Amino acid sequence: MQDPREAGELILKMSATEFSRLSEFIYSNYGIKMPVEKKIMLQSRLQKRLRALNIPSFTEYVDYVFSKNGHEEIVLMMDQVSTNKTDFFREPHHFDFLVDTILPELTSRSSVKRNLKVWSAGCSSGEEAYTLAMVMENYIEQNKSFDYHIHCTDISTKVLQIAVDAVYKEDRVAVVPLELKKKYLLRSKDPLKKTVRITPELRAKTTFARLNLMDSYYDAPDSFDMVFCRNVLIYFDKKTQEKVINKLAAKLRRGGYFFLGHSESIMAMNVPLKQVKPTIFVKV
Ligand SMILES: C[S@@+](CC[C@H](N)C(=O)[O-])C[C@H]1O[C@@H](n2cnc3c(N)ncnc32)[C@H](O)[C@@H]1O
Repeated sequence: MQDPREAGELILKMSATEFSRLSEFIYSNYGIKMPVEKKIMLQSRLQKRLRALNIPSFTEYVDYVFSKNGHEEIVLMMDQVSTNKTDFFREPHHFDFLVDTILPELTSRSSVKRNLKVWSAGCSSGEEAYTLAMVMENYIEQNKSFDYHIHCTDISTKVLQIAVDAVYKEDRVAVVPLELKKKYLLRSKDPLKKTVRITPELRAKTTFARLNLMDSYYDAPDSFDMVFCRNVLIYFDKKTQEKVINKLAAKLRRGGYFFLGHSESIMAMNVPLKQVKPTIFVKV
């Protein structure tokens, strides 16, 4: 988004009251902490929404969000509020552990062909899910004893649409090993676009849906073999993190694996997980 100052547009200011109405709503409904230091960030991220709606002040915007017609705007507001930073092969030791330990273990346990169920919770624009798909598909080529499905959820409809389209700039996939690039990424026919698309075979192994981790009930399948919830809970307070981890763990089968991001932990939490490696846990 172009900086409104560069575009010569007026910056609309948010008062302390408007900030507290929005930040309290965002925290209690979506878990995202909004301390007062985030006021300028929120004000700046929402400029685009006020312009799109042709609303001249935050007073009117906040009234609109909380009006009976504000439902759709809440979804679009959350698209701006959520932080969606992600990458292919982010925290690569998780994918090494998947190939070296989890897949051999899960696929050797059973004599019948298993369909592994994976959840990418807080999937952002799909890089995490497609990294998993590439790694698992590549493993299947040598070991055909299992199939898999990756269920992906996020609160932001904007990033979910990017994930469904599965088109990425070439520089975003620079980190993908060449062997996997050749097999699972398709170059755009127009070389000037410098984009790639995930192959239809891998896209068919994923589903994407909007889900708020603050919901009391998760509309998602049961008995996952693996749940990835990485770099999502960092925006929540400790109590909320514990509640969300318990709800996610309830969807994991016993012996299934749970992954957190590098700066997240379950320390001092009452959750049915045992650490097997830093940020990797097994359900007990
Ligand atoms: C920083 S991204 C992490 C993406 C990916 N898991 C990774 O590690 O690269 C965090 C994602 O969590 C999502 N998120 C934040 N609060 C959420 C909530 N209450 N329910 C579901 N998703 C949420 C955001 O929309 C964002 O896409």
